[in-house]
Amino acid sequence: MKKAGVIALAVAGTALFFSCGKSQYTNVDMSPKKIKVIRDFGEDASQMLLSELKSELKKALKTKGPVDAIEVCSKKALTITQEVAEEIGDIQIKRTSFKYRNPNNKPDQYEAQALKFFEETLKKTGKLPPYYIQKVDGEYRYYKPLKVQPVCLTCHGDPKHMDEKVVQKLKELYPQDKATGYKIGDFRGVIRVSIPEEVIKKSCL
Ligand code: HEC
Repeated sequence: MKKAGVIALAVAGTALFFSCGKSQYTNVDMSPKKIKVIRDFGEDASQMLLSELKSELKKALKTKGPVDAIEVCSKKALTITQEVAEEIGDIQIKRTSFKYRNPNNKPDQYEAQALKFFEETLKKTGKLPPYYIQKVDGEYRYYKPLKVQPVCLTCHGDPKHMDEKVVQKLKELYPQDKATGYKIGDFRGVIRVSIPEEVIKKSCL
């Protein structure tokens, strides 16, 4: 009897651990398997977007200079984002931040909750969480945090230390710009990858 009880407890404990341990990086209970599937989708999509954006940015900075490179971000960022989404299929990608440059990138209420999660955890622990997963309205949202690197300062740094022409151009294009004044290592914002619940169900049998 005693032995059976111990075994039952052990089985229940294992099941609990594997099936409904709420990860510290999710807004609802999810199995580790589901988390892995969502992370794989999210990481693939955001890495693709990041490498496309970076190579376009590098090319433009080298051949045309920082003022014209702004165009890569203002005109091409959305197109590249759509192309990456189409290539992977059934997903949506967006870049967002509390300090947004383009008002179209303003966070919605769920994105604001995710941004807050990153900011608050960073404040509490001194470390940026590697990701955050949200279940909302028939989809899973994967968030990847972005940190400021040296190259970002060309357009997101302290305007006093930026090329005057870049500052001028940004003012013209984005009169309400909130996205300057960053330092290397700062939390800049997130890439959000949305995956329909159906897609996850199919891969998570
Ligand atoms: C050549 C200038 C330039 C550089 C360099 C640059 N950005 Fe941007 N960034 C922009 C512009 C312009 C926008 C607005 C894009 C739009 O209109 O959607 C933007 C938008 C963003 C956004 C979307 C949210 C918002 O503010 O509208 C994020 C996130 C972002 N940049 C992160 C970065 C990071 C991280 C780096 C460095 C790896 C970087 N940027 C480097 C010009 C730049």
